[in-house]
Amino acid sequence: MRILVVYYSYSGFTRRVAEAVARACSGELCALEQPKRRGTFMNFVMGGFEAMRRRSVALKPLACDVAAYDLVVLGTPVYAGTLPAPMRTFILQEGSRIRRATGFITASGREAENLKVLQEMRGLLPDIWREPGLFVCYSPNPNEVALGVSKAWGLELARATL
Ligand SMILES: Cc1cc2nc3c(=O)[nH]c(=O)nc-3n(C[C@H](O)[C@H](O)[C@H](O)COP(=O)(O)O)c2cc1C
Repeated sequence: MRILVVYYSYSGFTRRVAEAVARACSGELCALEQPKRRGTFMNFVMGGFEAMRRRSVALKPLACDVAAYDLVVLGTPVYAGTLPAPMRTFILQEGSRIRRATGFITASGREAENLKVLQEMRGLLPDIWREPGLFVCYSPNPNEVALGVSKAWGLELARATL
């Protein structure tokens, strides 16, 4: 079973979770990147605005072929209570080429609202989504806890896809 972990991360937390998941399920990693990296302030303002407006944005050419994998794991932060534009763009552009998908979100707050973002991601890939997704919260968790949870989920994915 070939597993690909596709993630968007601006400040690095989602990347660390993606790495932990990929290590645990022996998956490959693929990062979504915008052509020009924004500064922190611009990312907060524009990233939040584009997310709220459900905008699509330009992405760097993908370094992975999603159709070549049995399972694609999507990892993304929550922006303004929804998906950041790079992940939404990726799903809209590549979703129809994915055989089977699951995913995780990271967020700074524990709010139940954030779980809706997992549901939103599943809603964009309704026929191929595999439960359970994962919600990893940044702020109350020391990173070791967050990464331990991510590892356990990755191991579970690997077992389930055997
Ligand atoms: C523009 C912007 C909007 C955000 N909106 C939310 C939000 O609505 N709810 C939340 O819990 N965290 C929110 N966050 C925090 C991020 O989801 C969280 O810090 C995430 O883990 C960052 O991932 P990264 O380090 O991979 O970029 C926001 C962060 C940014 C930059």
